[in-house]
Amino acid sequence: MNLDPNNMPKHVAIIMDGNGRWAKQRGMERVFGHREGTNAVRRIVRACGELQIPYLTLYAFSTENWNRPKAEVDALMTLLVQAIHDEVPELNRNRVRLNAIGHLTDLPQQCQEALSQAIADTAGNTGLTLTLSLSYSGRNELTRCMKAIAESVATGEIAPADIDERVIAGYLDTALLPDPDILIRTGGEQRVSNFLLWQIAYAELFFSPVLWPDFNKPHLLDIIAQYQNRERRYGKTSEQIKAERP
Ligand code: IPE
Ligand code: IPE
Ligand code: MG
Repeated sequence: MNLDPNNMPKHVAIIMDGNGRWAKQRGMERVFGHREGTNAVRRIVRACGELQIPYLTLYAFSTENWNRPKAEVDALMTLLVQAIHDEVPELNRNRVRLNAIGHLTDLPQQCQEALSQAIADTAGNTGLTLTLSLSYSGRNELTRCMKAIAESVATGEIAPADIDERVIAGYLDTALLPDPDILIRTGGEQRVSNFLLWQIAYAELFFSPVLWPDFNKPHLLDIIAQYQNRERRYGKTSEQIKAERP
């Protein structure tokens, strides 16, 4: 596939959906789908590194996912601790820097520790920034952000008149990340399920029918090729955009 190296996305965000159905289709428990899903994560992280995409953000566990049966939540947390721990050498080999967003203090202690350790162990890497969204939802992030801004106003650190989009973005979990250029949801559903609500204002959306455990580099390449054929107008006219092109 011929991709234009001058029009690559800087930030790809993915709603990794379809693990449960993948397992059920094979007559297996849902947790097998989650386990297989970690292999897809490894493949896509590697692919993004090869494509020199600087930021990849994965929706791994939403605040709403706490409402799943306890056995599934427990299995997911165990899998997470194991995967984070096991993947550090591979992340370091591929120069991947791990990052996490979400209401992380809601995660089990063991999970928080594994995460902090892996983030520290990969902090010096200068390749792909891989952000895991854990106990994350856009509304929860915005609520925490608004509280933090209110506190800064209360202490006199900022004045209400100074609050603009840049200030708000700086108080979000994603303060250090650019907005996603591409949002992919696998698994066939066409909704955003509370992911990055502020940040996807102008993201290009892609809905893939492929279940997450089956998602592979060629699927990603196909989406990037489609992305390169889209015209991002940001409210302007097509004529304006064409005139601005170098
Ligand atoms: C996505 O797969 C992974 C998580 C939400 C943790 P699902 O578990 O939602 O799989 P489906 O949508 O039921 O197939
Ligand atoms: C979204 O998937 C959350 C993650 C992929 C982590 P869900 O399977 O939880 O979303 P809904 O419930 O179908 O909207
Ligand atoms: Mg799902």
